[in-house]
Amino acid sequence: MSGFQELVFSGVQPTGNLHLGNYLGAIKKFVALQDSNDCIYCVVDLHSLTAQLVHDDLAAQTRSITAAFLASGIDPRKHIVFNQSRVMQHAELAWIFNCVARIGWMNRMTQFKDKAGKDRENASLGLLAYPSLMAADILVYRATHVPVGEDQKQHLELTRDIAQKFNNDFSDRIASLGVGVEMKVGDETVNGFFPITEPVIGGPAARIMSLRDGSKKMSKSDPSDLSRINLTDDADTISKKIKKAKTDPDALPGEVDGLKDRPEAENLVGIYAGLADTTKEKVLAEYGGRQFSEFKPALADLAVEKLAPIAGEMRRISADHAYVDSVLRDGGERAGARAEATMKTVREIIGLLDN
Ligand code: AMP
Ligand code: TRP
Repeated sequence: MSGFQELVFSGVQPTGNLHLGNYLGAIKKFVALQDSNDCIYCVVDLHSLTAQLVHDDLAAQTRSITAAFLASGIDPRKHIVFNQSRVMQHAELAWIFNCVARIGWMNRMTQFKDKAGKDRENASLGLLAYPSLMAADILVYRATHVPVGEDQKQHLELTRDIAQKFNNDFSDRIASLGVGVEMKVGDETVNGFFPITEPVIGGPAARIMSLRDGSKKMSKSDPSDLSRINLTDDADTISKKIKKAKTDPDALPGEVDGLKDRPEAENLVGIYAGLADTTKEKVLAEYGGRQFSEFKPALADLAVEKLAPIAGEMRRISADHAYVDSVLRDGGERAGARAEATMKTVREIIGLLDN
């Protein structure tokens, strides 16, 4: 993408413990991207009100996600770490996007359908509008790249649709104010105020599955704690969960093709590759032909080596409320200044008086 300054943005909700899926699908990528990019990482506390308004301790959950970011190696001085509700411009832009997006777009979102269940009429309006707030999170910084797990792909496509519709609907005003930026989208060169954001999804761990059932996503809402590895699990718990993970009776194949129709085997190989920063091919080149009785202990050792230090750091950082809060306050101030710069122009494009 040309024209726009490259900027990475992503968010994580402060609901429930983080698990290995969140770590490999999202947070580990956040850490890798910070070496050569400007990055903003956000704890999206307003999003966590959409499914459930009242939480036992939202502040504690917000601090815990922040601690996970910092313990995993995100540098809050070089980059920005903050919680969404501090920067009210997210909600302001979300309102405008509610008027850009169409109800039909929202109704098609699979996450909405899953979370609303059968009684859709009774879901909160916020749950339906969730992707509009997500688009605002990203576009209020005019971010160009968004690292997330596979499950967020549809929401990012919607973010692109919202940006495109805003750019089209206001194309004359964007041109007359001279605030458009040229960008390449596929083979076309287009001009607009908002970038058409690129998802950063992929690698061997974009979709980590439950350890108990290879057809279900690893998730914080699974009633079985054995289905997931939490970032706060200690070494013994991590090992125990991997050793109890469901598998089939066959040895590991030598090639990735051989993982077809073996979802549990594929998942464990993907987890190994994600943790070791390698590919499924390379893991199978080493372990092809071996039984799970050999592979599981190796995977357990690797998981403990990579995850136990993060759990320790998380505990240490979580206990220091003053430090965590100062990171969020400082990040909120820096994010707020950038968001306000975007919103000044957005208000001007729309014609809202703000002087
Ligand atoms: P959430 O906790 O739902 O806010 O998710 C935070 C991030 O973790 C998002 O980028 C998700 O796409 C990612 N994520 C959640 N579950 C998984 C999973 N099972 N595998 C890979 N990525 C995941
Ligand atoms: N919807 C994302 C999730 O559930 C969280 C999120 C909110 C997000 N705003 C975002 C992710 C902006 C990336 C960019 O995981």
